[in-house]
Amino acid sequence: MSIHEDDIKVIVNKNIGGRVPPLLASPEAEKAFRFHKTIPSYKETPLVDLSSLAKELEVGGIYVKDESYRFGLNSFKALGGTYAMAKSISLQLGFSDNNLDFDYLSSAKIREQTGMMTFITATDGNHGRGVAWAAQQLGQKAVVYLPKGSAKARIDAILETGADAVVTDLNYDDTVRLAIRKSEEEGWHLVQDTAWAGYTEIPGWIMQGYTTMIYEALQQLKAEGRKIPTHIFLQAGVGSMPAAVLGYLKNIFGEASPKAIIVEPTNAACIYNSAAHKDGKRHPVKGDLQTIMSGLSCGEPNVMAWDILRDFSSAFVSCTDYIAARGMRILGHPTGHDLRIISGESGAVGAGLLSLLMGNSALARVKKSLGLNKESFVLLFNTEGNTDPANYRRIVWDGEYPLPTGREITCSLDNY
Ligand SMILES: Cc1ncc(COP(=O)(O)O)c(C=O)c1O
Repeated sequence: MSIHEDDIKVIVNKNIGGRVPPLLASPEAEKAFRFHKTIPSYKETPLVDLSSLAKELEVGGIYVKDESYRFGLNSFKALGGTYAMAKSISLQLGFSDNNLDFDYLSSAKIREQTGMMTFITATDGNHGRGVAWAAQQLGQKAVVYLPKGSAKARIDAILETGADAVVTDLNYDDTVRLAIRKSEEEGWHLVQDTAWAGYTEIPGWIMQGYTTMIYEALQQLKAEGRKIPTHIFLQAGVGSMPAAVLGYLKNIFGEASPKAIIVEPTNAACIYNSAAHKDGKRHPVKGDLQTIMSGLSCGEPNVMAWDILRDFSSAFVSCTDYIAARGMRILGHPTGHDLRIISGESGAVGAGLLSLLMGNSALARVKKSLGLNKESFVLLFNTEGNTDPANYRRIVWDGEYPLPTGREITCSLDNY
């Protein structure tokens, strides 16, 4: 038998507790939601009830918030970029951020006051598409740097908006450093979806923007008289998205919040790796960060996000690419009366993980330690659709990334 990484590595957090982040308090989420509603293509994304899958996996319920429908852009990402850009413009003009209005901010009158602004960012594609699209709508300019190996479809989607797209021969974290340098040289506005010491304001606004998806999900659950989730699976790149969702939930529910399980690709598991060091500090991972989950291919945790994830996550999990591929196939081929969900590599890993936790006896110990059982209601976020359609087909049609034949799934379990 060949030596391989465990398919699933789990660290259960035994040290939950800390300061609930005011950045993600309810009034801030409401402001972001009010702004998003002013965007002409705004429409609440579907909350899909996978009751047949829940029955098959023997849990109380599974809901999927399907962000592939967000603004017609195939991923959740523009929630962050649009809000941060709107806040930047309003700050420059001295407006209050209470009632930001997309139409007004994109008017000729505003452009006369701001002049042509250039927004720059580094991205695997999804964030860049959001920034490029928002800049186009706002009548401003965007320049997007992408790491090596970025999918052609994602680059084309950025170019279609009229933005500049530059593919580097660097990984995500080094591409961010290049974008920082460029923004300083050119005097462009950096809209980066991660924070570091000295750069927290814009990523803080981006995180506030992401809360719209959990804000909507809770409203949808309430309107349909459904149970609040007991568990929530959140996939992490730099951690901004999961921390935004979790930070907001902590503000709303306190200790009664759903258990949050943070999921990352094995080769880019910077949140898991930080937890594994058990010293409360961030521990980046380096190298090519090779994974099919390119939206999660990040080696350096967001400084603000890490504090929230460390304090409030129930578990940190790293998964091989097979788990994401399995999730894509499950969501794309529903059982019973469930609706089909088109989920891309970074959107589906939570579904793949849940299916194995509930259905594979090798994971029984982990399932128990996460408190997953017949009473559990699980919320998943499909954070992207088929943003790389060719790869989607290779995985779903051609069955790429199977579990290597002749071996069982393997798993490790540790505590933080
Ligand atoms: C589709 C998708 N899902 C999840 C994430 C994770 O978000 P974050 O990097 O904020 O943890 C990303 C990040 O780009 C993404 O593109």
